[in-house]
Amino acid sequence: MSALKMKEIKVIANIGAGTMGHATALQFAMNGYPVNLLDMNQAALNHGMDLIEHDLATFEENGLIKGNQKADILARIVPTTDYSDALADADFVIESVVEKLAVKKTVWQKVEHYVSEDAIMATNTSGLSPTTIQADLKRPENLVVTHFWNPAQLMPLVEVVPGEQTSEVTVKTATALMNHIGKHAVALKKESLGFVGNRIQMAVLREAFKIVDDGIASPEAVDDIIKYSLGRRWSLVGPIASADLGGLDVFENISSYLYDDLANNTGTDPVLKKLVDAGNLGLKSGQGFYNWEGDMGKEAIANRDQALLQLLAEDQKKR
Ligand SMILES: NC(=O)c1ccc[n+]([C@@H]2O[C@H](COP(=O)([O-])OP(=O)(O)OC[C@H]3O[C@@H](n4cnc5c(N)ncnc54)[C@H](O)[C@@H]3O)[C@@H](O)[C@H]2O)c1
Repeated sequence: MSALKMKEIKVIANIGAGTMGHATALQFAMNGYPVNLLDMNQAALNHGMDLIEHDLATFEENGLIKGNQKADILARIVPTTDYSDALADADFVIESVVEKLAVKKTVWQKVEHYVSEDAIMATNTSGLSPTTIQADLKRPENLVVTHFWNPAQLMPLVEVVPGEQTSEVTVKTATALMNHIGKHAVALKKESLGFVGNRIQMAVLREAFKIVDDGIASPEAVDDIIKYSLGRRWSLVGPIASADLGGLDVFENISSYLYDDLANNTGTDPVLKKLVDAGNLGLKSGQGFYNWEGDMGKEAIANRDQALLQLLAEDQKKR
C-alpha cells in the first residue's frame, strides 16, 4: 500500500491545538479542507478555537478574508478529544504536540492504529529526527516532517524533511499539499539536525552573540546591521545566489582570512547560558539582551505581525 497522492487528500486530522497546531488547522480550513482538530482535553481545544477565531478576525480586518468566509472556515474545523473520530476518515495527519521524542513516538503509534493505511503522517517537529520517530511504525514510509515557522498563520516556509524510510511519494504529496494551502514548501534531500532553517539561524546567532560578548557592537547595532543589509537582501535573493552575484572569488578571499576568526564554540552557547542562569529569558521574563518591561514586547510582535500580514496579502495577490 503506497501513500496517497495530492489529489486524493480530502480530509485532514490535526493533532494539537496549541501555538502551532491551531495555525496549521486554520491554514487547511482556509483552503477548503475539513479538519478534525484533536487535543487532549476540552480546555486545550477551547484555547485552540479561541486562537483560530482571533487569527480569523485579524485576517478579516486586514482584508485577507471576506466577512462571509469566516463562518464557513470555522464550520470546517471539528474539535474532538477522540482519536477514532479524528482519524477514521483522515487522509493527511499533521501533528504539533509537545517536542518530546517519547510523546511523539507514542502519539504516532496510536495514530497508526486508527488511520487508513495510505494516509500521510506529518510531524511538525522543530528538529527531532524523523528516522527515529518512524522507526517503530508499521508504515514508516508514510511519515515525513512538515516544519512550519511561527507564527505559522503568517510565515510562508514549510521545510519538508524525509526520514531514511520515507517514500518519495510521501515527500511529493506533503510538498504539493503545503504549496496548495498557500505555504512555500521546500523539500530537503535528507534529514539533518535542525533541518536547514535552524542550522543557519543558530550559526548566525552564535556569531551575533560572540560579537556582543566581545564588545564589538551592541545588540541594537547587530540587529540594525542585519535588518538593513543581509535581512533585506536575503528576503529577495538568498545567501547562496547573493554569493554568486557578488563573485565567488570575492567570497573565497574573505573566507581565507575571516573563517579562522569566527565563533566556532561547541556545546551550549556560553553567552546564552550566562543570561539564562541569571533568569534573563527575554520577553517572557522582561529582560534578555533587551529590556522588555511594559508593552514593548507586545508592540514589537504587533508591528512584526502587521508587516507579515502585508507581505502575505501581496503573496495572495500573486497566487
Ligand atoms: N512554537 C514554535 O515556535 C514552533 C515552531 C515550529 C515547530 N514547533 C513544534 O510544534 C510542536 C508543538 O509546539 P507548540 O509551540 O504548538 O506547543 P504548544 O504547547 O503550544 O501546543 C501543544 C499542544 O499539543 C497538545 N498535546 C500534547 N500531547 C498531546 C497528545 N498526546 N494528544 C493530543 N494533543 C496533545 C497540548 O495539549 C497542546 O495543546 C512541537 O513539536 C514544537 O517543537 C514549534
